[in-house]
Amino acid sequence: MNKIRRFGVLMLLALAVIFGVAFYGSTQLANNNLRALAKQRGISIGTAVQMQVLRNDQSYRDLLVRHFSKVTPEYEMKFGPLQPERDRFDFSAADGIVAFAKEHDQEVRGHTLVWHESLPNWLTEGKWTRDELITILQQHIKTVMGHYRGQIGVWDVVNEAVAEDGNSLRDTVWLQKIGKEYIEMAFRFAHEVDPQARLFYNDYGGEELGKKSNAIYALVKDLRQRNVPIDGVGMQMHVGIKNPPNLEKVAANFKRLNQLGMEVQVTEMDVKISDGSGTIMQRLTAQSEVYRNMMQVCLSAQNCQGFSLWGVNDRYSWLPRFLKKPDAPLIFDELSRPKPAYEALLEVLKKS
Ligand code: XIL
Repeated sequence: MNKIRRFGVLMLLALAVIFGVAFYGSTQLANNNLRALAKQRGISIGTAVQMQVLRNDQSYRDLLVRHFSKVTPEYEMKFGPLQPERDRFDFSAADGIVAFAKEHDQEVRGHTLVWHESLPNWLTEGKWTRDELITILQQHIKTVMGHYRGQIGVWDVVNEAVAEDGNSLRDTVWLQKIGKEYIEMAFRFAHEVDPQARLFYNDYGGEELGKKSNAIYALVKDLRQRNVPIDGVGMQMHVGIKNPPNLEKVAANFKRLNQLGMEVQVTEMDVKISDGSGTIMQRLTAQSEVYRNMMQVCLSAQNCQGFSLWGVNDRYSWLPRFLKKPDAPLIFDELSRPKPAYEALLEVLKKS
């Protein structure tokens, strides 16, 4: 009898320990998850995703679900992949991402309707009149946004239309054939198709006050004044540790856009470390500071509701391909382990 009682007590103790550890573990999990913390702070936290990787890599999927409340298709919603031949649309890969997001209660950023890259050959090689290209633009926006109406609440309508130096509009097929009106046309077409969707102009290098951000500011101010339906500016935030964006200048830029009634979102953040110096640990620490500061700016700004990274982990980052050298620009490493940048985001999100 005694033995049985002792066994019972031991069993109860063991169960208490097991439940205790599990409970502690689950509260730790709840505390250390970016999406829950971001939600408490009133912003979404997102990342670019690739359908191919989503299909094949469990650890990538786990991180994506646990830490992110929003996804942006990294490639699958660009013009070329969506309309590989004229009037033939292929939504399969993009639909896969949207279905995954829905299943895991994540928002989707539509990216991107009008850009000078990732265009199909039929479009770039065709000899179009102005009216023909306007029809192509309108048809594309109508079909794509129509397909996702009610499922995608925010779109990058026009991407990277301002030239590198900030002095003019970028010389693209859209500008050459349609003229500068292509920008407002795109926003008007988009608004017609889905009046509920929030419509963004998205660009890089315009985070701080400076030549390029002045040009972007002037562009959106003009659109606003003429009642073109535009809701916000996406700051890509492809930056590095060598010349990191200045916190006060970024905050001032967000503020002047707020005064125009514009939302801002950080849309594609990554922080290259190959441009810096020092040991790997020093570089990763410098990187974590850039993430911390930019998240801080977003949290402090009245008009910043979203903060997205351009990839889940270093393994699938576009940057080494783009720079043609190794780099490690994201918050999880090649093996999906958290980096100092992840800890920095956690800290700043927890700080009240
Ligand atoms: C990049 C993707 O990461 C690559 O996989 C693709 O080949 C080219 O485009 N600015 C943007 C993004 O708006 O769409 C770009 O994404 C990175 C720069």
